Amino acid sequence: MSHDNYYEYYERLANWSFDEFDIHSESLTDWDLYEILGSLTDKDSHILDLGTGGGEKLLAYYPDCAGILGTDYSPQMIATANENLTRSGRKNITFKVMDNLKMDVPSDYFDIVVARHTITDPAQIYQCLKPGGHLLIRGVDKYDSWGLKMIFGGGQGYNDPVPVSITDYENVLNSGFADVELVPIHEREFFKDREVFKAFLGKVPILEGEPDDKLLNEYISKNTVGGRIRLLRNYYGITARK
Ligand SMILES: C[S@@+](CC[C@H](N)C(=O)[O-])C[C@H]1O[C@@H](n2cnc3c(N)ncnc32)[C@H](O)[C@@H]1O
Repeated sequence: MSHDNYYEYYERLANWSFDEFDIHSESLTDWDLYEILGSLTDKDSHILDLGTGGGEKLLAYYPDCAGILGTDYSPQMIATANENLTRSGRKNITFKVMDNLKMDVPSDYFDIVVARHTITDPAQIYQCLKPGGHLLIRGVDKYDSWGLKMIFGGGQGYNDPVPVSITDYENVLNSGFADVELVPIHEREFFKDREVFKAFLGKVPILEGEPDDKLLNEYISKNTVGGRIRLLRNYYGITARK
């Protein structure tokens, strides 16, 4: 999907919650973004959350501290985030519209920058972090849902010559960061039936479009465990220090 198509896709998704799919998720690895964030945060910390979406994860899992700024290039997402903020009653949190690739934040200001499932420009992130500040990235990797993508012969990152985890890792290293670690994250997700699984695939960019019924049936026949449909997810985590 192109940059513009992604923008329209996220604008449409702004008021939408993935809770309704009732996905059962099992972690096969132990890299946990929120645990790492919690261990790095204290009461004086300033956190920047890039591509915050509707702020759901920020509001649910980011620790209380001096200030958290959540940003997203979609005005619809930021409107949803502000509604969610009001409902949450949380303090010291603000949201604003900003493109991650044209960042408009002070230099040497943040203690921690988080980018979960969004695009980044590590050189611009480096600029806005205090010396000693931390960058935490979690992303969806090329080999995410690979068995499904193989049956469909395409999907997100399918034809990337280099996995996005490696591109991100190299960009972080090349931007001057120290203590850079790249860690693979594997999860199993289970869906209760075909209808829910198909609706989920219609909402996420894994296959980039409506799934073909015949190919979907083939995947389901090969990946049904105890009556539930299994999808193997492959993410990556990056930690780095300025
Ligand atoms: C998959 S959602 C992740 C939301 C949230 N970080 C989370 O983990 O739940 C990706 C978000 O990144 C935003 N996004 C994508 N490209 C962006 C860009 N260039 N600048 C700012 N936000 C962007 C989208 O609008 C969307 O809200």
